[in-house]
Amino acid sequence: MASSDQTRLLLVEDVPQVAQYIRGLLNSQSSVKLLDVLTDGTKVLQHIAELRPDVVLVDALLQGRVKGLQLVQQIRDAGGRVPVIVLTVPQNPVDVDPEAGIHGVLAMPFSGFDLMNRISAVRKEFESSSTVGSSKVFAVFAPKGGVGKTTLAFNLAVALGQLEQRTVLIDGSLQFGDLRALLKVPVDAPSILDLPTDRVAESDLQDVLWRDPSGIDILLAPPRVEMAEMVTTRDVDKVLSLLRRVYGSIVIDMSSVLTDINLAFLDLSDTIVEIVTYDSTTIHNTVAVADAFRMIGYPASKVRYVVNRADSSGGIDPGDLERAIGRVPEHRVVSDGVLVVQSNNQGMPFVLADPAAPISQDIGRLASELLAVHGMGRTPVAGRR
Ligand SMILES: Nc1ncnc2c1ncn2[C@@H]1O[C@H](COP(=O)(O)OP(=O)(O)OP(=O)(O)O)[C@@H](O)[C@H]1O
Ligand SMILES: [Mg+2]
Repeated sequence: MASSDQTRLLLVEDVPQVAQYIRGLLNSQSSVKLLDVLTDGTKVLQHIAELRPDVVLVDALLQGRVKGLQLVQQIRDAGGRVPVIVLTVPQNPVDVDPEAGIHGVLAMPFSGFDLMNRISAVRKEFESSSTVGSSKVFAVFAPKGGVGKTTLAFNLAVALGQLEQRTVLIDGSLQFGDLRALLKVPVDAPSILDLPTDRVAESDLQDVLWRDPSGIDILLAPPRVEMAEMVTTRDVDKVLSLLRRVYGSIVIDMSSVLTDINLAFLDLSDTIVEIVTYDSTTIHNTVAVADAFRMIGYPASKVRYVVNRADSSGGIDPGDLERAIGRVPEHRVVSDGVLVVQSNNQGMPFVLADPAAPISQDIGRLASELLAVHGMGRTPVAGRR
């Protein structure tokens, strides 16, 4: 299963023996990856931006133009997006003070056990208290093709953008890049494949995201079918952890298959927004997918069902769907053939084209309810782009 359990550590240490000691402690394990050892405090901010470590370890006694605790302050002043552990000696006590950017302290001598424990505790604590932890990933999935995933994912992302600070939509339909077609994006527009593979920084994101006129940012799928295979589960892991640092809401438009890549997207999402319709194939496949999710170990609460075209049951008893999934679907979106087709043809979200239409109201409600599930309910911000 994909995971971002490995902690990426950056060490700032100008005493070679200490750096060597820490390297030695980290050599025999895989839960912490040492990205680099920097000896010069003036280069650290730049490396943090490039390497995106999860934790930085700084020697309080660092010498040079920028001293240890000065550096800690600089990291905090630069936005404090990474927790810092200060290394010190008993003669030079330092107190933990998250306000001052000191999230943990390690006094020498320490064992490998102390080091690993402190790194893991500081990272966990920081993620649960910072905005990184409050970023939410919504995977828009369906057990059957053509039920409205791309249409709803696009409009949901725009609706979340109106409620949230920043929203990004990922075209996870990697082979056919549904959003490229919907939004009429030029063939040479950058895609997920243009993200550098080792050093991924926020600045790289700016060059790779498509800024849609609807106001949201979009990470496009590769431009050609055969290129989909070049995206690995590791890329998915990296992309999501990077996007989580920058965006409040991340929406993924997925394809209807349970491949390794799709499982990576699903594993890493907070909520699976599963689109169903009133037709017998969808109902049949929904049960199969629910079984698969149970076997993978997803709790039932990870999935929220959205009945699309909920007003056109096409002769199917809505009770059939409820019995099949064992509960009443949480959300519904009505049909609107004219508005949806017109907006899709223009590559425009219908929630902006006609905000008062019942289907747009349904999407707005879906967006607020999804945020509310995660305790993030907000009122729309007037005049947001
Ligand atoms: N609520 C709705 N009312 C009317 N038409 C809809 C609605 N939802 C989706 N559609 C239409 O259904 C068709 C399929 O939608 P869409 O491409 O979004 O599905 P998909 O699940 O992403 O398909 P795929 O499996 O190919 O990725 C589109 O023509 C769209 O206009
Ligand atoms: Mg699609």
